[in-house]
Amino acid sequence: MAVVLIGFMGVGKTTIGQQLAKVYNKPFVDLDSAIVKHVGLAIPDIFKQKGESYFRAIESELLVKFIDQDIVLATGGGIVENPNNLGIMKKNKLNIWVDTNINTVYNRIVGDSNRPNANQKSLDEIKKLYNNRISRYNEIAYIKVGNDSDVDSCVQKIHNQIIADDEN
Ligand code: S3P
Repeated sequence: MAVVLIGFMGVGKTTIGQQLAKVYNKPFVDLDSAIVKHVGLAIPDIFKQKGESYFRAIESELLVKFIDQDIVLATGGGIVENPNNLGIMKKNKLNIWVDTNINTVYNRIVGDSNRPNANQKSLDEIKKLYNNRISRYNEIAYIKVGNDSDVDSCVQKIHNQIIADDEN
């Protein structure tokens, strides 16, 4: 079973996932990187040349491939856009929802040309997208952790909570 990191763009899923994979001594897979490798194009080029729906189809295909593996898996923030993915992820226990203050996130992602769903968007647009998605992250999350301080303490919080739940 995979430890799956979910949450909005720019909350630090990849960095946290890499650290968590070291703690659990499991391989780390970043779903966005797997999509880029599979298609042979960078994310903005996939969106431009093939469309977001193509990106979402490959994202789903690779989610199915990885979710039953014994790995730490970081997903893209839009994984919850596809209702089928919600069904697939609900069957997985350890979905860790990483969340950060949306204003902090906005400043991180607005200028990132590698994130077509955030690049040059207004704060209102990003907040709308975030608000649309939080109930879906909540629906499939096993635990929610804030990543408002540093990565190490966030990783520690996840680890502590998984251990505590194992003991009950
Ligand atoms: C997306 C989030 C990105 C990536 C793609 C679309 C989104 O992943 O999958 O740009 O719609 O939220 P990150 O959450 O790692 O930025």
